Amino acid sequence: SREFILSPSLLSCDFGRMAEELEALEAADLKWVHWDVMDGRFVPNITLGPPIIGALRKTSKLYFDVHLMIEEPERYVEEFAKAGADMIVVHAEATNHLERICAQIKDLGKDVGVALNPATPVENIRYLIPQLDMALIMSVNPGFGGQGFIPFSLDKIKELAALRDELNPEMLIQVDGGCTPENTPELVAAGADCLVSGSAFFKFPPLKERHQVFKDAAKA
Ligand code: DX5
Ligand code: ZN
Repeated sequence: SREFILSPSLLSCDFGRMAEELEALEAADLKWVHWDVMDGRFVPNITLGPPIIGALRKTSKLYFDVHLMIEEPERYVEEFAKAGADMIVVHAEATNHLERICAQIKDLGKDVGVALNPATPVENIRYLIPQLDMALIMSVNPGFGGQGFIPFSLDKIKELAALRDELNPEMLIQVDGGCTPENTPELVAAGADCLVSGSAFFKFPPLKERHQVFKDAAKA
């Protein structure tokens, strides 16, 4: 089976010490970092954009997993690609031309992911699965960290895992929102390859030990 990936969400880090926080993630043996980009329209919150990501790209070797919670992401995927994103995830609900934007992201040489809000059926991305590097199941309503895991998300993970096994066994399944060491075993058993964690990770230093807790839970 695939190697478990923890992708810490920077939404829960100290925004005033971002360069140090990214260095700490590398020291804690993390390979991925999750950038939550919010525009105040698709979600009721505003965070950051390409200038910040580009600035941190200069010194970080982490794999930049960029989660675009923005309306009409087609307007900005090129800027995020140039800023140094490695994976660009767009929301199925944020664009009228989902297949075209996925092709555009691949043409930019980046890995491509599609995120589904809690109420959006997994079935909506059936025809895209063959061309996706990752699909993201939102297990909270997007916009904020520290929320509770929405229970029916587990059913969606299982449903997506069945489609993935049938249509694209290479595609990663990422779960984002309310992931903790306590629910990690069942999320991984349901088919998740990558878990995003913000509050359940950054609020429990030392980070290297906390990372190991998640890795041990993924093997449970
Ligand atoms: C929410 C973001 C998530 C969030 C996860 O809109 O997409 O990545 O930061 O934070 P926790 O792990 O605290 O739910
Ligand atoms: Zn996210």
